[in-house]
This record gives sequence, C-alpha cells and structure tokens, in this order.
Amino acid sequence: MRRKRDIIISGFSKLLKEDKLKLVAEYFENPGEVVSLLKSFWHSDESQQKLFDEFSENTITNFYIPYGIAPNVIINGRTYLVPMVIEESSVVAAASASAKFWSERGGFHSEILGTKKVGQVHFSWTGETHVLYAMLPSLKRSLIESVKPITANMEKRGGGILDIELVDLTHEIEHYYQFLVTFETKDSMGANFINSVLEEFGQTLKVFLSEQVHLADEHRQCEIIMAILSNYTPECVVKTWVECPLNQLDNVDEKLDGEAFARKFEKAVKIAHVDVFRATTHNKGIYNGIDAVAIATGNDFRAIEAAGHAYASRNGRYESLSRVEIEDGMFRFILEVPMAVGTVGGLTSLHPLAKQSLELLGNPTATELMMIASVMGMANNFSAVKSLTTKGIQAGHMKMHLFNILNHFKANDEEKNAATEHFKDQKVSFASVGQYIASLRK
Ligand code: MEV
Repeated sequence: MRRKRDIIISGFSKLLKEDKLKLVAEYFENPGEVVSLLKSFWHSDESQQKLFDEFSENTITNFYIPYGIAPNVIINGRTYLVPMVIEESSVVAAASASAKFWSERGGFHSEILGTKKVGQVHFSWTGETHVLYAMLPSLKRSLIESVKPITANMEKRGGGILDIELVDLTHEIEHYYQFLVTFETKDSMGANFINSVLEEFGQTLKVFLSEQVHLADEHRQCEIIMAILSNYTPECVVKTWVECPLNQLDNVDEKLDGEAFARKFEKAVKIAHVDVFRATTHNKGIYNGIDAVAIATGNDFRAIEAAGHAYASRNGRYESLSRVEIEDGMFRFILEVPMAVGTVGGLTSLHPLAKQSLELLGNPTATELMMIASVMGMANNFSAVKSLTTKGIQAGHMKMHLFNILNHFKANDEEKNAATEHFKDQKVSFASVGQYIASLRK
C-alpha cells in the first residue's frame, strides 16, 4: 500500500532507525526493494554506521559520493596528493590535468593574507548613542572578563578575541547596534568557540546595563536580538597564483601561440569581471575544486562558498574571484578567496575519511589547508577557462560524462568498452549514446 504524501507525520524523530526506514519505504510502490536498497548502503561495521548516524538527524542510510585523488599538486615547492570528494565528472580530471601542467611550470604559489574570523552580537538599546560609546571601555573589559573560561584554552593555542567594535546602525534600523568581534581561532574553524563567546557577550551586556545606576530605568536594559558568527570573512583570505613566461604556453593550443592563448584567456576572465552571468559560472568552477577538498577534509563547504560569493561582490558588483596579469612577457593567473577552514575539531577527526584525508595531506595546519583548497579552486578554474577558450568544454566533459550516460542505459562492461572505443572520435550526447547502445543490443 502506498502511503499518502499529504499526511503530516508526528514523532518521526522518535522512531527507531529501522522504523523510519520502513515508514519512508511505504511512500514507494515497492517498499521491500526500497528498504533493501537503502540498507545496502549501510556500513558493514555497526560502530562506524552509528558514528555516521549521529553526525546528523533522522538518518536512514548513507549517500555515497566518489572520493578521488588529484596527484602532482605542487604548492610552494611541496608536492601533495589532494583528496577530492565530488559527484561531478571531469572535476578531478580537470584538477589533475591542471596540476600536471603547472608542475612543469613552477607549480602553484600561495600565501595567506589574513586569518581573522568575525562574529556579531546584534542588539537594540533605546538610550543615546554617545552614552553607549562613553561606557564602551568599561563594557569591553566586562565582556572580555566574562568569557575568560571560554577563551583560556584558545589563548593557550595562540588564538582568542582580537577586537570588539561597537557599530552604530541606528540610521538603518531604529535603536539597532552590534558588537563586531574579530577572532583568531588558529587550526580550528572556530564556529562553536565564536558562538559561545558571542552568546556570553549578550548575557554580559544585559548584566552590565542593569548595573549602570546612572542610567534611566528603561536604558538599563537592552534586547539581544541574536548572537552568531559571520560566514563573511574578508580578512581570512588566501591568495594563490601560477605564472610562467608566455612562450611556455605555446603548446596549449595548436591554433594559438602562447601570447595569443594568454590574451584570449585574459579576455575570458575579464568577461567574468563585467558580466554576472559569466561570473557566477566562472566562480562555480572555482568552487568545484574548493568544495571537493572541503568535503574530503570534513569542512563546511556552504560556509566557504557563502563567504566566497559575498567576497566576489565586495566592489559593489558580483565579479570573478580570479584575475589575469600579463606583464613583461609573463602570464600570471591569480585567485584570491576568503576561506574559513579547520584541521582540528568538528568533523575533521570524527569522520574517518576526513581524518585520513588530512593525514594524506601531511596533517596540515588550517592555513596550509586554506592554500591547498584554494589551489584546487585555481586548478579547476584554469582548466575550465583553458578548455573554454580552446577546444570548448564539451569535448572533454562529454567524454567523461560518457560513463554516466552509459550507466544510465545500464550498459555492461562489454558495452562500455565498445562505447569508449566508438566515441573516441564521435560526438558524445545522450541521444547518440542511447542509439549506439540500442544498436549493440539489436
Ligand atoms: C562546470 O561544473 C564548471 C564550468 O562551467 C566552469 C566554467 O565555465 O568556468 C566548466
């Protein structure tokens, strides 16, 4: 019996996992098969499966995503095998091709421009602004003092609170202020640390105001609207670049010499600076590489992307995160991205594969991981724009996509081998592969 979709389910979270699974399966025509399919993705080791179940809520199975490796990634003279978790075909191949290409031209270069994280306490206070500013020095002392139990450990690791700024936004929203707080969180992403500090700040502000006997009663209170870290980290930024003499680009394309290729490539990147439609796709290509590393190492790719897209708009319009410089016979391709990542805490040590990824990368510091992830962003961006400005994206992309299409048609190994051979010099499309498979099966 198929369950009705419009029935509200109560108490789902309280059901046992097995019962949740059964309940979900009832929404399908073939519940028995659905249960078997979803169960076939459970980990064979019960304790490992329990770990996964506890990462999230209402879990009924695991969703696999391929875990690949981009070899030959040279960054500041050191060679890495970079783990990439991504479902899209071509991304790992593009990153690997780019890494190989640049390994023969000095490798990737990368430097950290800053590591400051940001958080805010948003509050309303009805008193006069100058009175609040007059209290700020002693208020700051109270704030700092009140979070000592939370900051002590972080301070031992060289991190902590860097600054507390009072921002007056009463011209935007009546009575609205915020504390804009900057943090150094060293090798941790720092979200929990930052949020704990900010929530405590909110409580401290309330107590502090209540104790200000010189204030009118209504000004001895405030409303804490919310306290939360900001995922916009314009001062936690990594800069990555590749460079080579123009003549080292001579063989990139059979029709263009090195300089002509570099100029065309530069034009393509410039378009991503002036046109939001192109900029979005251009930057998406960058995050193909960055997100894949973020996921492989147990980092929050949504946070990293959100920061990147906001940063791409910092000049008042949404632009490319990468840029090209051609000067004195040199081609230089530069990527600047904000990146809040951690190599301790969170999933980084809990998820067995994230832990393994970090080990493969030589247990990097957070700043090293910022460089590695941004390099993979640059590697993918270079490959994409290189393909787009020479042979076009479909040539390589559809070849890689061929396997997805073949799997769609449930091709067996023999059919796959025949199709790989056949499509070496044929245009790959869903229709053409479908026709070819049909012809094989006749
Ligand atoms: C596809 O995932 C990414 C590209 O579209 C990026 C780009 O166009 O630069 C190929």
